[in-house]
Order: sequence, then C-alpha cells, then structure tokens
Amino acid sequence: TAGRGAGAKGLRFTPVAPNTDDRVTVPDGYAQSVVIRWGEPILRGAPAFDPDKQTARAQAGQFGYNNDFLSLLPLRGEHGRQVLVANHEYTDEVLMFKGYDPENPTREQVEVAWAAHGLSVVVVQEQHRDGRLTPVTRHPLNRRLTATSEFQLTGPAAGGALLRTGADPAGRTVLGTLNNCAGGTTPWGTTLHGEENFNQYFANGSSATDKRYGIGSGATERKWERFDKRFDVKQEPNESHRFGWVVELDPYDPDSTPRKRTALGRFKHEAAQPRLTADGRPVVYMGDDERFDYFYKFVSSKRMMKGTSRKAREHNLTLLDEGTLYVAKLTGDSPQDIDGTGKLPSDGEFDGSGHWIPLATGDVSHVPGMTAEEVYVFTRLAGDKVGATKMDRPEDVEPSPRTGRVYVALTNNKDRGAAGKAGADEANPRNNNKHGQILELAEHWDDPASDGFAWRLFLVAGDPEDPATYFAGYPKEKVSPISCPDNVAFDPYGNLWISTDGNQLGSHDGLFGVATQGERRGELKQFLTVPTGAETCGPIIQQRRVLVAVQHPGEVDGATADKPASQWPDGPGRIVRPSVVAVYRKDGRDIGV
Ligand code: FEO
Ligand code: CA
Ligand code: CA
Ligand code: CA
Repeated sequence: TAGRGAGAKGLRFTPVAPNTDDRVTVPDGYAQSVVIRWGEPILRGAPAFDPDKQTARAQAGQFGYNNDFLSLLPLRGEHGRQVLVANHEYTDEVLMFKGYDPENPTREQVEVAWAAHGLSVVVVQEQHRDGRLTPVTRHPLNRRLTATSEFQLTGPAAGGALLRTGADPAGRTVLGTLNNCAGGTTPWGTTLHGEENFNQYFANGSSATDKRYGIGSGATERKWERFDKRFDVKQEPNESHRFGWVVELDPYDPDSTPRKRTALGRFKHEAAQPRLTADGRPVVYMGDDERFDYFYKFVSSKRMMKGTSRKAREHNLTLLDEGTLYVAKLTGDSPQDIDGTGKLPSDGEFDGSGHWIPLATGDVSHVPGMTAEEVYVFTRLAGDKVGATKMDRPEDVEPSPRTGRVYVALTNNKDRGAAGKAGADEANPRNNNKHGQILELAEHWDDPASDGFAWRLFLVAGDPEDPATYFAGYPKEKVSPISCPDNVAFDPYGNLWISTDGNQLGSHDGLFGVATQGERRGELKQFLTVPTGAETCGPIIQQRRVLVAVQHPGEVDGATADKPASQWPDGPGRIVRPSVVAVYRKDGRDIGV
C-alpha cells in the first residue's frame, strides 16, 4: 500500500531517489507543507512580510532567516499545541535584498541582518485532519532573540578579564547571539543553541588566539564593523570572546534572559545534547565543527530536580554552570591497517578505545600552563595542549534514548592527509574525506560520566558502490547513497535520522533514516530531498510527522535576489525563503510503520 515499504519499524517507506529537483520530495503516500517561512510575523504588532520594504523593526517581530536547529516542546493546557524553537544561523544578504551591493551595505540592511539572526520561539498548532502545523501568531510565549538582544554570561569564566569590554566592564552581559547552528533539548525543558562560525562577524583580528579561532585580519564580508565598533577586534579585542558559547534558553519564560554557559567551553559549537547519569546529572556532548578540531563533553556536578515547580526550574537553570569539561582522545585498534583509502581494517571494523581528558573543573585548570579561565575562553588551545584527537569536523551529536550510545556526525574533511596536515587514523580513515562518517561511542559501563569509552564507525558515507564506504556491515546494494552527514536525531523506535549538508554525489541534500539495532542495523533509506542550494537541518521525528528546516534554499554561486537559483517555496517571481516544513502520511497514520 502507499506509504508502506519494507524496513525496520519507523522506516517502512519507499526511499526517495537521489535527484536535483527544486522542491521538497517525500516518499509515495506522504505529503508536506510549510510550517513557517522567513519573515512571517510572530510577535504582536509585527507587519506582514514585504521583501521589497523590509525593515529591522519588522524583522525583529518576524521569523528569522536560515532556520537550522529545531526543537518542539510540549505545551500543557493548550490542546494540540507545541512550542517550536528555531535557530537562525546566518544571513545571506545577496539573496535577501534586491540590488544588494556587498561593498556598501546600508545601515538598514545591516540592522535587518542583525534582527534576522538569533532564535525564534513560536507556538504551533496541530491540525485535526493531517500532520500539518501552523504558527499561532501573537502567542504570549512567542519570542525573537536577535544579534542585539541581551544575553547573560554565566559559569566560571563569566566576569573575568577576558570577557570584559568597554560597553560591559562587568563581563557578564552580551548583546546578541550569532551563528546558532544545531543545538539540543534538555530533560528539564530548556533548549541549547551552539554559536558556531562567530569568527566571520569580527574584523581586524591579530592575536594568535584570533587566528586559532579563524578571525581574519581584514574587513568582514558583511561589514558590520562599520556600523558597530564592537565587531572591530582592533577597537574591542574582547568582544569576540563573548561569542562561541552554548546558549541555554527557557522557552517557557518569555521574560527570561538566555544564558551563555562558559563552563561548556568556547569553540565553534555545532550542537549540545545532554544525557543524564544514573544519579541525574546532565552530561552534554558537543562538537567543534572545524577540520581537525575536537569532540567534547561536559559533566555537571549537580543533579537535575524533577518536576516543573518554580524551585525545580530555578535549580535546573544552574546545572550547566558547575562541572568538568573534557575533550576526547580516540585510539584505533588496527593502526597498521589504516592507509587513508577507507579500506576496512583486517579486524573488519574501524574501531577502538577512547578516553576523556579533563580540561577544567570550576576554577581549577587541568591543563599545564593555562588558567581555568583561559581553558574556557580558549578551549581549542587546551585541546591542542593535551593532544586531543583531530576529527573530521564534528557536527551534530545525539545519544540514543534506547541504548545510550552516542552518535557523532563527522561531516567531511578535504584536508585530511594534505601536505602539513594530519593523515588518516582509524576514526577518520579517509584522506581527502569528501563524504564524512558517523561515529558510535559507548561509554564504559553505559555511564555518561565515565572517563573511558569504546567507539566504532557506524557509517562511512558515500556512494555504496564506492568500496570506501561502510553501512554497519549491512548489504550495500540495499542502502541509499549519502554524503556529508550534519544533523542527527532519533525517532520513537530508536532509529537514527541523519540530515546532510553539501552532498558531494551530484544530487540534493536530504534526510535519511537508519536502524541502529537488530538485523537491519545499517539499512539506510532516504526519506526526503530539499530544493536547489539548500541543506537539510533540524530534523525532528515524531510519531505522526517529520519536521525539517530547509536552510539556505537558492544559495548557489552567482545567485542573487534578482537572479534566484530556486523558486522555493512560493514559485516563480517570489523571493526564496528559508522555511520549516512538516511531512506526514496522507492516510493520517504514523510515520514509517
Ligand atoms: Fe552550521 Fe557545522 O554546520
Ligand atoms: Ca579495528
Ligand atoms: Ca550544521
Ligand atoms: Ca552545516
């Protein structure tokens, strides 16, 4: 029947074939609809979207640009409603403004871009008939946080000399969050948001630490430094230290100030996903998305309080301020067999052991030659000093709610094995790695606070006909091709869903599901593809619907708002708009059963 297909429970659908169609393609028997688009008003008083007359004021009350991470939280007492939280990673001015002159942005354009960054909170309503979701405009929980909203720095580095600026001599209050890529949802009902490529907003970097974090020595592409001197490192050397953190937001309290958690370290945070220890302490897994950068975890010293009482909520908002930050070191068990081609080692698996190297606990540094404050603010340098394992761009991470095993998307690394760079190792086994891999990590004794773990590669991505691919040992003639895994999520049955960014196989990015247990472990199936130029983000797999954020549709070299490369989502002659999409079964039944 339509909508069915063989596969593990939750993955019984007919796979979508690779394609380059300028649309969202879903399996037979499934339908899709846009939940919310860039520019749709969500706050009281916000005007309807008018791309030809966009203003910063309007944008500050509207859904932001380039949606990435998504979270859906329950909303008690309001039937059929949930709270959607979205990251707005970055702006693409050339696609947002007709006639945009990259050399001479106007103040209004820059301020629109500030307002289009950040986070959105918007209540969504389920529809009776199908899996559609629609925004509830002007709901009191709806909220926009932008590049100019107030954020609080908390934890051991807050208030320190490295975080003080002329505008904030106390070093505790930052304006804005930038480049929020993926994130996480905590068991205590808050959301986490990784500030990723914050370096691109800062001009005139000069120090060694600026260099290690990728802050360039000249002007920035967006030229914000012309409009606010805090984006000029020469004038405000510490402002960039106030970005690159994990942000925690309480979506249930629209008056709360979101916090940047310094205890979780500063790097290009892709994502942050917690898991609780047996005694209730959160452990947060985090990747630094840079070629040859590291994978981390934070172990809180405090236990989560259950329930939603005011006391519990206040206590739980302190969990991520006290604990120990660790970085991962991975050792392969077949080093003699790793030749950089991706050929399986003689023991049949890319696998080995690992340990967590402590970097700092509160005010105590575990890294020789660095203070604790330096460890938190310049975490990459701490990882360098302790000899952490250089990974192929750690992107999103997700612990399995069923098995506790942690899945890390390592998206690609074209520089692996290049002159002067690290060569292949068992966890990153291909030189010139175009397609990426997914690591599966099992903590010793299944204790997330453990200091050691076992690991293996679950997937080595690419065209299954390419011998340098691996799908957990599943027959490769039965799987979909996949390239550049970025975001990962679990469905209610324990299957891993993977979205991609930057497909190197000549077709569009998409979303895939794969069983992680049982005899179908490794059977990877493509569930959807996205329009021209887009990456697939923020997947959420619920029983009755799948949500994806379609980020940067139409982002193709040479495309502009005047000469778009995509007509999505509204057809010819309409501006391209990053949007959130819901996918559901036409017959109203559950996804993939
Ligand atoms: Fe924003 Fe690492 O993807
Ligand atoms: Ca091995
Ligand atoms: Ca990402
Ligand atoms: Ca990405």
